[in-house]
Amino acid sequence: MANEANNFAEIISHCKEYGYIFQSSELYDGLAAVYDYGQMGAQLKKNLRDAWWKSMTQLHENIVGIDAAIFMHPTVWKASGHVDNFSDPMIDNKDSNKRYRVDHLIEGFAEEQKAAGKEQLADEVLTQMDILIAASDYAGLKKLIEDNKIKCAISKTCNWTDVRDFNLMFSTKIGSVSEEADTIYLRPETAQGIFVNFLNVQKSGRMKIPFGIAQTGKAFRNEIVARQFIFRMREFEQMEMQFFIRPGTQMQWYNYWKGERKKWHEGIGIPAEKLRFHDHVKLAHYADAALDIEFEFPFGWKELEGIHSRTDYDLTQHATFSKKKIQYFDNDLNEEGKPYGNYPPYVVETSVGLDRLFLTILSLAYTNEKWTKEGGTPDGRVVLKIPAKLAPVKLAILPLLKKDGLPEIATALMNNCKQSFHCFYEEKDAIGKRYRRMDAVGTPFCVTIDHQTKEDNTVTIRYRDDMRQERIALSEVKGLVEKLIE
Ligand code: GAP
Repeated sequence: MANEANNFAEIISHCKEYGYIFQSSELYDGLAAVYDYGQMGAQLKKNLRDAWWKSMTQLHENIVGIDAAIFMHPTVWKASGHVDNFSDPMIDNKDSNKRYRVDHLIEGFAEEQKAAGKEQLADEVLTQMDILIAASDYAGLKKLIEDNKIKCAISKTCNWTDVRDFNLMFSTKIGSVSEEADTIYLRPETAQGIFVNFLNVQKSGRMKIPFGIAQTGKAFRNEIVARQFIFRMREFEQMEMQFFIRPGTQMQWYNYWKGERKKWHEGIGIPAEKLRFHDHVKLAHYADAALDIEFEFPFGWKELEGIHSRTDYDLTQHATFSKKKIQYFDNDLNEEGKPYGNYPPYVVETSVGLDRLFLTILSLAYTNEKWTKEGGTPDGRVVLKIPAKLAPVKLAILPLLKKDGLPEIATALMNNCKQSFHCFYEEKDAIGKRYRRMDAVGTPFCVTIDHQTKEDNTVTIRYRDDMRQERIALSEVKGLVEKLIE
């Protein structure tokens, strides 16, 4: 565990050093649980988003994508249940005034027990917590905390308030301050933008059930404990897809998407043994079945994606609150040979956090390699083994020297390749140093132009993961890289 924690701290500092992620407003000492993506991070994030978007909207003929606004009519959140139900049980320490999410406090305690070899106690506490949360037994949760003498990390005391619910939505004002009902919310999930547009998309796209609507975009939650870097943020990005289906078929589609989404994660390079399913004990107010796809992060198994069978809850609620009919006319014939007729469709949702996916890819990619050179000198490198198709920069073009016509050949190669994929040009420093920098930012291929290039039009291509080098024709570089990033 200590090694894993060190490894996580190394990943965080590596992200900053190589332009992946910066603390937001760092100049002013930062803003807790808010992060900015740097030049490398923004590109990796875009590549992940594009991979998801393509898999949903291009590879599925019955899924279309939309881009709804973050601001929505305030009644949307009343109808969806978020105003009344989107809260977490919290507890305050009276001595430090620090507020904790109850499940995080207890999970933190269980992790400490596990690290101390008290696995059984840890498991018992977690099982009890699940039961109490499922029963909304807040007095029981407080007793569990007190019985186990769980302390506040700051005051080191057990002087706790009662457990209470706190809503996680951020609110802000729209228009003139004097207007009535001017309070709006920053969306806590992108899904509602899809629900309120269900009829617009279904009618304008002449969509036939089953079909999906996909969307990526920012979501906001006032998370109380936000410690694990970009794992739990106050502003984050979701990639959600609502799949509209005939009532009664929800378990069939729920299982279908459960399998599809795990396959997709494996397809972008996440090993199967690092993924597992976790069924929800306590269901959200809108769900009749739900599970998480968990990934083994450096700090343990945690949720990466949620699959939820949301019934017709959302569409029915919006129909009630808007006083409009939100139904689908299904003219397919049922077993009795009659049309299924009008109904509000059921929904199976897939919802993955883009930032968590980013952290997943980075945790897998980060490798600190050490070896001994001939003669016994220790050597090593830090390398980001990001799958080539996702890497922010695909090819580094490196003239060996800044003279003798080598930069001109390199520039011509750069101009030839940059229309097709991201390239990076560098002529400063010794070649070994440049290779190490490219390893650290995760560039999968480097091409070196040297004096031999002038003689026989060949270059050296170096592969990041095994540091293998080979000589290939200059004219083959573009095609080879295109093939390798396919
Ligand atoms: N529409 C359903 C929904 O929002 P959720 O399980 O609350 O469900 C879906 O969130 C996904 O969004 C999670 O699996 C996670 O990847 C991501 N997510 C949720 N809260 C997050 C946060 N505070 N920071 C980063 N990602 C978050």
